[in-house]
Order: sequence, then C-alpha cells, then structure tokens
Amino acid sequence: MEKTLIILKPDCVQRRLIGRVVQRFEDKGLTLSGMKLMQIEKSLAEKHYAPHVGKPFYPGLIEYITSGPVVVLALAGPNAITVSRKLMGATFGFDAEPGTIRGDFGISKTFNLIHGSDAPETAETEIALYFAPGELLDYSTAAEGWTSKPNEV
Ligand code: RTP
Ligand code: MG
Repeated sequence: MEKTLIILKPDCVQRRLIGRVVQRFEDKGLTLSGMKLMQIEKSLAEKHYAPHVGKPFYPGLIEYITSGPVVVLALAGPNAITVSRKLMGATFGFDAEPGTIRGDFGISKTFNLIHGSDAPETAETEIALYFAPGELLDYSTAAEGWTSKPNEV
C-alpha cells in the first residue's frame, strides 16, 4: 500500500488543530502507520528541504519548520500521496479551495499548516528521514474492508 509523509507544521500545532486535521485523513480512509510529536532540528530541516536550497523563501522556510513542535505522520492507503495532497489543497492558503485543509484553516502564504510528500520517491526518502523502520506499523483496520475494496488500487 502506498505511504506518504505528512507534517503538521508549527502553526498547526500552535493553533491546536492537530485533532481536526488528523480527523480528515482518518475520515477519508487513510491509515496511520506512524505518528509522533517532535521538534525538527535545523540539520533535519535542511535535508528535508534540500530541493528548495537557493530559493528566496528557503531561509524563512527553515526558520518556520524548526520554530516549534510538529506532528509527523506516515499514512498508508490507495494513492495515499495524491489523496493527501488533494485533502491539503493548494500550497498557499489564499489559493486553496474551501473544503481542503489549507483552504479551510489558513490564508497565509508562509504559514500553510501542513506538508505532504509529492511523489513516491520523495515519500520514501522523507519517511526514512523521520521514522526508523521499527516505528512504522502495517496493519488492517476493521473499517478498511468497507472504505476500499480489498486489494483494489
Ligand atoms: P509542502 O512541500 O510543504 O507539502 O508544500 P508544497 O509541495 O505545496 O509546496 P513546495 O513548493 O514544495 O514548497 C514547500 C514549502 O515552502 C513554502 N513556500 N513558500 N513564500 C513562497 O513563495 C513559498 N513558496 C513555498 C511553503 O511552506 C511550502 O509548503
Ligand atoms: Mg513540496
């Protein structure tokens, strides 16, 4: 089953939105494989955001993501990467459609609440940055047989 790495960014934690945001992923039918509260060290943020080095927003992005506790999730499910990004909405709150996480909870460009992996290769790299293999659980839930047909892609 496809997995994706989600980060509930410092603004999401400070605004006490953790429960409401995680609820959306559960409601959709994605399954939590890993979950932890942590503060991202600068060195880890630099690895995660290496593709953005040199862009004008890069220094602010590193400052933002390291500024307070975050919640990292590894989510599993059919097309977990695309499904999660649809739930998140467009990058900036003012662009994001109502009904999405960014569209419903924010209007800022910088403080956009949440990160989600953008492709299978980045998901694999990002999950390995935040979780040791023993911290991830693969399991079935009772509801799963009804939220998606077993073995359907
Ligand atoms: P993310 O990686 O956080 O899931 O978001 P994304 O794919 O929608 O956006 P991406 O282009 O990967 O940008 C990563 C993060 O950098 C910040 N950003 N600021 N001020 C700006 O122009 C700007 N552009 C990007 C956002 O926090 C974005 O989530
Ligand atoms: Mg991105």
